[in-house]
Amino acid sequence: MFGAGYVGLVTGAALADLGHEVVIRDVLPERIERLRAGDVPIYEPGLDEVLERNKERLRFTLDVNEAVDGAEFLYVAVGTPQTHSGDADLTAVWAVVDELPEGASGRPIVVMKSTVPVGTGERVRERLDARGLTAVGYVSNPEFLAEGSALADFMSPDRVVVGAFEPEDGDRVVELHRGIDTEIVRTDVASAELVKLAANAFLSTRISFINEIANVCELVGADVVDVARGVGLDHRLGPHFLRAGLGFGGSCFPKDVTALKQLAGNSGYPFLLLQAVWEVNELQKRRVIGKLQKHLGTLRGTTVALLGLAFKPNTDDMREAPSRVIAYRLLAEGAEVRAWDPVAHPDDLHGVELCETVLDAVQNADAAVIVTDWPELRSLASSEVRQAMARPVIVDGRNLLDPEAAHAAGFVYEGVGRPRHASPAEPGFLREHDAELRH
Ligand code: UDX
Repeated sequence: MFGAGYVGLVTGAALADLGHEVVIRDVLPERIERLRAGDVPIYEPGLDEVLERNKERLRFTLDVNEAVDGAEFLYVAVGTPQTHSGDADLTAVWAVVDELPEGASGRPIVVMKSTVPVGTGERVRERLDARGLTAVGYVSNPEFLAEGSALADFMSPDRVVVGAFEPEDGDRVVELHRGIDTEIVRTDVASAELVKLAANAFLSTRISFINEIANVCELVGADVVDVARGVGLDHRLGPHFLRAGLGFGGSCFPKDVTALKQLAGNSGYPFLLLQAVWEVNELQKRRVIGKLQKHLGTLRGTTVALLGLAFKPNTDDMREAPSRVIAYRLLAEGAEVRAWDPVAHPDDLHGVELCETVLDAVQNADAAVIVTDWPELRSLASSEVRQAMARPVIVDGRNLLDPEAAHAAGFVYEGVGRPRHASPAEPGFLREHDAELRH
């Protein structure tokens, strides 16, 4: 396994749990040291236990020869970050391909787990052949792991996609997943590469669609939670990924939407739908500011508490987290920004005060914004929080709370696409409330 990042560690651990011998190789000495010491450098529920349980079958190394020695499968799980042009940066992929030693015995198979543009498999094939590594096979085997549930996603996947140039190579990768009961999609390499990008782009499209529906709900007085339920019960559509909120983030959706849009553009087709998916998402993060201004007026000199920083619950990942955009928008509007997150403690959110507890974050705040749907925020609308806040305004960016209960607890509540439940502050209510609270 080349790459001890998120995908490499989870996939390596899961394959070891299936009984396979796994050698995980990375180029970062401190990462390998930590892993050898049993210290897992990423936050993923259950990963520590699986790595511990399979430590007899797992080795960590910096040495490429140790990694490939006797290996039947050479998994590539390195990062393919986005470049400024929106294309994927494949530097780490080429580094692995160019490092593979000649003269490997048998027919080891390079298995691509990293998310790569369509056509990468062809280029790897050419590069291997150019190095005389014609006996090395190539298979595209994209991952569909969601952070926070990655191990379960590997062990009980909706499907395993195997794209191969040589069917026998595909057969062997399918065999590797023995013990996992799921649908196997056998196809060519290019189609397998596109399945991954298209799947993430389509999930992102569902989110931007329901977010636009939510925005319409706010104008026509409908409730997006009910609308999503009514739509999702259609078996042709299903309920998943129809949760309106303040936009998607993470290391995959933003990058893959851009990569697919770029790939289409490079190939001569303007992917208009994905352009809109992207723009809707950028706008959705910023609509929070408008909601705050609606209740607070100018944000200059106000204090706003951001509750949740990670791009979603059950992870400490801040990559492309909507919280970043909202925090900097607020600072630009002259607000003081405090934040709380149970596990994400970024050191690069300059100007934002990180707080130990929710109560610290909302102390004397003029408003609280639920940015990440951490379960512990379900009890936010409490009298304790109301007492602590300067003005009891909650903008629920994930529709996490029960609006009625928030009202009953004396909060001004604003969800996403829930106008009937949104309680515009009665004229003078907040000012009265201010006086009342501040005396
Ligand atoms: C995603 C895919 O789910 C996974 O299959 C793929 O392998 C990697 O990318 P991940 O990025 O971990 O996984 O997060 P996911 O749970 O999909 O959420 C992505 C973003 O969408 C988050 O910011 C989440 O808050 C948001 N989201 C998700 C919504 O706004 N509404 C929804 O209904 C679902």
